Amino acid sequence: MAAAVCIVLLSLLLGSCTRPPVREPVTLTLLEEWTTKTFNEGRQQELQQFSQETGIKVKLLPSPESAKEKLALWQELLRSGASGPDVYGIDVIWTRILNEYFIDLKPYFAHEISLQFPAITASYTVDNKLVAVAYRADMGLLFYRTDLLRQYGYREPPRTWDELEVMAARIQAGERAAGKREFWGFVWQGGATEALTCNALEWQASEGGGQIIENDKTISVNNPHAIRAWQRAARWVGSISPRTVGGYVEADALNVWIAGAAFMRNWPTAYVDSQAAGSPIRNKFDITPLPGGKAGRVGTLGGAGLAVSRFSAHPREAVELVRYLSRRDVQMKRARMLSVPPTLPELYDAPEVLEPNPGFALLRQAFRTGIVSRPSNVTGKKYPDVSEAYVQAVHSVLTGEKGAPEAAAALENELVRITGFKKGPPHGDQRTRE
Ligand code: GLC
Repeated sequence: MAAAVCIVLLSLLLGSCTRPPVREPVTLTLLEEWTTKTFNEGRQQELQQFSQETGIKVKLLPSPESAKEKLALWQELLRSGASGPDVYGIDVIWTRILNEYFIDLKPYFAHEISLQFPAITASYTVDNKLVAVAYRADMGLLFYRTDLLRQYGYREPPRTWDELEVMAARIQAGERAAGKREFWGFVWQGGATEALTCNALEWQASEGGGQIIENDKTISVNNPHAIRAWQRAARWVGSISPRTVGGYVEADALNVWIAGAAFMRNWPTAYVDSQAAGSPIRNKFDITPLPGGKAGRVGTLGGAGLAVSRFSAHPREAVELVRYLSRRDVQMKRARMLSVPPTLPELYDAPEVLEPNPGFALLRQAFRTGIVSRPSNVTGKKYPDVSEAYVQAVHSVLTGEKGAPEAAAALENELVRITGFKKGPPHGDQRTRE
């Protein structure tokens, strides 16, 4: 028996030495977490170029719209253990939720990741395992109308939430008096989705109200700074922000901003539609870090990476696809064409990136010192429940259904129930330090 196995193996070995290998073209499947029409078109072009370079074909799978449904689908596919998609796009907050289903990419990308923003690489790493390679960086930013600021006598965009409120109210009143009845001061994402976690974390972290759950597992959300930050946002609803803001996701805020608003909180990718040919605000806006409070100015870290399934039948080719999609020149083109922020600090000095997105110049520093992370690392698989509970609590304050102190106290208890962690005060300044 052993001899037979040896003969078979030997003949395979010899066969492969003498005959040129006949290789069937491999087709990979890619499941992408981020899907907008513009981005999908760009991605198809990237995949064609990849196929031309490597001979490997890629099928881009459709994915559901909401983040919650996406995560549920990813989990279902991966839990089934079937070969399924080879490469998965994952939101930065999913690293620990899906870790066990993906191969360690560290051996293949040691050099590449040494060139990325350290905080970004860290958020895709679990116990020294690189779960995914980041291909787009993201952080919450303030978009503002340069023409209107000038017209209303403001030299600079707001540095604090107080300043933003005053400016937004004045510009809104002025524009409405001039006949723009639908004009708004400030639009953001108040709908009960993951985007509200990102917005509300920015309000509270900038006021010293903590990160909901601190890195040392302290549940800190029930504190006066966080409560005041939520109360402030509740006052925006129906004054400087539309009543319907409590239903907004990113695309809704973007539509209202393009139609007429002084300020918008959104991700840098909102740049491309704001600046599109035919956009009424083309060349009339800029970006700046979000306003701050007592603890400084912060934007929530977002973004996505690419991971290779443990069940892939073609891991070698899958790694090549990840390498290609995170490659410097591909990220540069994506930044140029689609305003997708690169994960490589060096690209924020590249004229090719800055020429179509001049505002991106500030992002290099902001990604180093101005980001706050959601508590996804510290809560791991429980993060979706933690975030959902937080969203429901904040949303009930925005709609006026509950008072902020009451909502924060109930949330604190619920987070204890979900995580088993202890209650305590926030640990001061949440900004990333290098
Ligand atoms: C953006 C971010 C992502 C975040 C999502 C929330 O896509 O990159 O991290 O979870 O928005 O809507």
